[in-house]
Amino acid sequence: MKRALVMGNWKMNLDYVEAVHLVQQLGVLASNRPLDHVDVVVVPPFVDLRSVTSVVESERVPVGVGAQHVNPLESGAHTGEISAPMLRRLGVASVLVGHSERRQMYSMSDDVVAQTLQAATRHGLAGVLCVGESLDVREAGQHLDYVADQLRSALEGLSDTQRELVTIAYEPIWAIGTGLSASTDQVREMTEHIRVVASSLSLANARVLYGGSVNAENAGAIVRESGVDGFLVGGASLKAESFWSIGEAVDDCYAGRAT
Ligand code: PGA
Repeated sequence: MKRALVMGNWKMNLDYVEAVHLVQQLGVLASNRPLDHVDVVVVPPFVDLRSVTSVVESERVPVGVGAQHVNPLESGAHTGEISAPMLRRLGVASVLVGHSERRQMYSMSDDVVAQTLQAATRHGLAGVLCVGESLDVREAGQHLDYVADQLRSALEGLSDTQRELVTIAYEPIWAIGTGLSASTDQVREMTEHIRVVASSLSLANARVLYGGSVNAENAGAIVRESGVDGFLVGGASLKAESFWSIGEAVDDCYAGRAT
């Protein structure tokens, strides 16, 4: 059985002082209640990364550190951008690719998503490819095809080594930050579909996460009933207790302790 993965996407929240505090709190929670079956990753804003990786290392907090975005190029005249080698140098191990907020608000096209996933994995970063449909697309009954197209466009052309670094996060846009999580049936249908499409692209082993209004209350039922390998959490990752509770719910399920 694969290990589960729970990632906390902080988005544009928490300055570096708040970030250090949150990671220290996670360290305390982790020593009280270790998560034996779950990889936990925090995904802070760029400016927090150095402080967070330092605290994780010096206080041995059992969490990985990811970034929210990366430019596909290695260096050059790209004001405001950050490259994969820069992230690697900081001890960052993973990066979100194509989050719907980047696709929608910062015009990240499918082509740029594909280039970004290529670059991230070529430099040894684990790439968390975010896919998911809008409400219009779901209401038109097109969500399965839409997500399959997003997957094909981003995942074709990766080498074997690159493919091993890919995780897929299904995040329906209508469920992000709305408090209205997808139902377990909806998550199960899409997770199964993603696994079929991923297998056809030689990614049968990729972990599939769900994201969209996941919280300490709904995490247990979703992970038990939908077949996901974990979660990409936004709002509920900004407080140590709620984030760790989500990890505990997943850990319980994987340990067979869930009721
Ligand atoms: P949310 O965000 O948990 O606040 O809905 C999820 C995400 O965008 O990754």
